[in-house]
Amino acid sequence: MLTVVRGEPMEYDLRHRYRCDLVPIPTGQRGADVIQGLTRRPKTLPSYYFYDQRGSELFEQICNLPEYYPTRTEQKILASAAPEIAALTGPCDLVELGSGSSRKTRLLLDAYSQLQGDCTYIPIDVSTTMLQTTALHLLADYPCLFIHALAGVYETALEHLPPSARARLLIFLGSTIGNLSPQEEGQFLRQIYLSLSPGDHFLLGVDLQKDIHVLTAAYNDSQGVTAAFNLNILRHLNHCFRGNFSLDRFTHWAFYNEELHQIEMHLVSLEYQVIQLLDLGLEVDLRAQETIRTEISRKFDVTLMAKQLDCHGLPVQRVWQDEQKWFALLLCKRV
Ligand code: AVJ
Repeated sequence: MLTVVRGEPMEYDLRHRYRCDLVPIPTGQRGADVIQGLTRRPKTLPSYYFYDQRGSELFEQICNLPEYYPTRTEQKILASAAPEIAALTGPCDLVELGSGSSRKTRLLLDAYSQLQGDCTYIPIDVSTTMLQTTALHLLADYPCLFIHALAGVYETALEHLPPSARARLLIFLGSTIGNLSPQEEGQFLRQIYLSLSPGDHFLLGVDLQKDIHVLTAAYNDSQGVTAAFNLNILRHLNHCFRGNFSLDRFTHWAFYNEELHQIEMHLVSLEYQVIQLLDLGLEVDLRAQETIRTEISRKFDVTLMAKQLDCHGLPVQRVWQDEQKWFALLLCKRV
């Protein structure tokens, strides 16, 4: 499937090295999380709805903002750690959750290309367009690369991993694990454990606790890209479920919750309003100033995270950090 890009048929070689499977949420469950979130107090939305094509593009822009330190900090750590990571795991297939533009993953692909003749990469992302565009660029740049993309949410995709001939390295960068509540994180790590075989590896990037001003600025950039990214979730929901959110009746709000060590992103309703999502048979009313929490982005303590991983059968083999200790990469080996 998906062999046409901008009307041009994909070249034989690329088609031979590329496959993309859709792993849709079962029809009965689709939107259930949206209904659940919008009918509780405080109202919430699942963060993966940020990432339609436009949302993925906005997120790429966020990664390049001067205030948004995580991407470039992690990129720098990975640039020096990648050869060591490859040496520690030995030859393997790379599976990545939330692959996006795979910009940081290229550092790993470089390292693994030195180690093994060919490379199999299984990127998982909710944005099909992003998967497709990225795959074509990677295939052009890495002649020995095979890509088997999975378009869908993590939970479903992890249940549909293609069988691997080699051991696996499961990659989860960008501190996206911070989007999960502590309870969801436990369930997620359990699923990671179950998706891997003994001796497989898990590479996790986590954003660390730091000065509140640095954290707050990263989610309140001066160019308003984060605000546009936040509002875009409503446009995406309108599209998915025939909704009638109007984006100019909401405003972006992000702050650091010090007790819970998490950035919270909300959309604040500027007036009393009633919203319908026709395909979900859902009508919700919002009071003036009422908020919808669209994301939590937890900030971690390396020692606690290492313990948590250990508790889930994923003991940490090595940790890399930047000099400021703003971000950490943890390499775990599944027992
Ligand atoms: C991709 C989920 C890690 O939480 O920092 C960036 C998303 N939200 N700016 C994050 C995000 C607002 C990002 N993650």
